[in-house]
Amino acid sequence: KIAPLVFSGMQPTGSLHLGNYLGAMVNWIEMQKTHSCVYCVVDLHAITVWQEPAELRHAIRQVTATYIAAGLDPKKSILFNQSQVSAHAELAWIFNCVARLGWLNRMTQFKEKAGKDREQASVGLYAYPNLMAADILAYRATHVPVGEDQKQHLELARDIAQKFNNDFNKEIVAAGFEDGIFFPLPEPVITGPATRVMSLRDGTKKMSKSDPSDLSRINMTDDADTIAKKIQKAKTDPEPLPNDEKGFEGRPEAENLVGIYAALSGQPVAAVLKDYGGQQFSSFKKALAEVATEKVGRIGAETQKLMSDPAEIDRILADGSARARAVTKPVMAKVKDIVGF
Ligand code: ADP
Ligand code: NA
Repeated sequence: KIAPLVFSGMQPTGSLHLGNYLGAMVNWIEMQKTHSCVYCVVDLHAITVWQEPAELRHAIRQVTATYIAAGLDPKKSILFNQSQVSAHAELAWIFNCVARLGWLNRMTQFKEKAGKDREQASVGLYAYPNLMAADILAYRATHVPVGEDQKQHLELARDIAQKFNNDFNKEIVAAGFEDGIFFPLPEPVITGPATRVMSLRDGTKKMSKSDPSDLSRINMTDDADTIAKKIQKAKTDPEPLPNDEKGFEGRPEAENLVGIYAALSGQPVAAVLKDYGGQQFSSFKKALAEVATEKVGRIGAETQKLMSDPAEIDRILADGSARARAVTKPVMAKVKDIVGF
């Protein structure tokens, strides 16, 4: 039987934002209590769009520091950057040969990220979901805490695992896996009141690093004044807050801000509406700025502190990479045997 194992990662493309934190990282931290966890800075994914090398190097350290500042324990969990563990790229190549073009053609994130001039997108951006499947399956991980936007990529990872198990059934059984299951079908863990945090400027767009407006997102490195200003400027409608969740109908900005408050304060949305339903946004925004400043401010300050010792961050990543290689080595040896290398 395949033991439960958690895997997830984020791209080092600038600083992390509140969507990354509430959509995924809160669950990463929580799952450390009950599971073995592997958390990755996915630098190979980052270069699917152009990265200035010096900025990339800085972002790898900064994202690592933010993980730790948010509560990731690098002694307990494995924390490393993807480029240092060759199994990711090796298994991704094999998965490039398992996945079908038709499957990748259906990926909505590629269409969004490639934009209008698709001919100019990198091949890596197109094949990104295969690398993501390799990230997870190189550890034979079973649980993947991510935001809602990653659901389709997780389904693809399951399809790849299933097809590999089917294509190589005979070899997998011969290698000693009697049930024919070499790769588990990894399950997405998408839970909490903020699995899809929206832009503060437009309640129909997700909060994202790639949004050109810095007012659209709260960065995990923003200071208290910046956080307060962004929340104060956040788009809302003129109505007071609704009294129940049905009242969010047609009010995406209201739903988003209340969801963020609920996630930050650790309460259900209904409890927040019990306190603030019927009130104006002006007073609710003050309360929201307070909880956001408290949480994000603490993580931002701790990130800064860790960043003052880059050699220590590099040491943590080197240690995590060695531990990650130790996990992937026997998996890749079996994969190569199964494939016929
Ligand atoms: P981005 O989409 O900002 O470039 P990544 O692709 O590195 O960030 O995503 C890292 C993690 O953060 C993934 O689990 C993703 O689902 C989650 N995530 C990203 N944006 C949001 C959001 N707006 N709301 C909830 N989760 C998000
Ligand atoms: Na994303």
